[in-house]
Amino acid sequence: MAVTAGPAPAVQANDDEADRNRYLAGGRKFPPSPFISAHITPDKNGKPAGLTFEQFRSTLRTGHNPNDPPGELLQIMPWPVFGKKTDGDLRAIYEYLRAIPSLPDNPHPSPNP
Ligand code: HEM
Repeated sequence: MAVTAGPAPAVQANDDEADRNRYLAGGRKFPPSPFISAHITPDKNGKPAGLTFEQFRSTLRTGHNPNDPPGELLQIMPWPVFGKKTDGDLRAIYEYLRAIPSLPDNPHPSPNP
């Protein structure tokens, strides 16, 4: 199956430039908590959130990003639910994230779209 790089379908559909520039680039606030969604587009090496697939799978399964200090768990992020996905599902999500455009950090962090 061919994978076409470019804006994700949901972003193409509404053709909103602001959305294209921040799609999965993090910065969504969840008030009143202090937590902010992570940037998970590919880094300069093509790794979503800078994670290899093994690291990504482990993060989704355990809630701990191996790049974070020991014992730290992702907050807000529904990893207890996403962690129940099969290896194949997680691989599909990872490959999707590898295929979307790499973006800088969300330039307009906000609780609103
Ligand atoms: C399949 C869907 C999802 C995937 C693959 C995913 C993936 C990730 C990954 C890999 C991280 C860690 C990145 C890093 O530490 O740099 C992360 C963090 C985060 N995610 Fe998700 N996520 C998903 C859905 C969601 C949803 C639905 C929400 C909220 C409604 C969410 C909120 C967050 C937040 C707030 C963080 C940062 C947590 C912290 O800093 O403690 N995620 N996500």
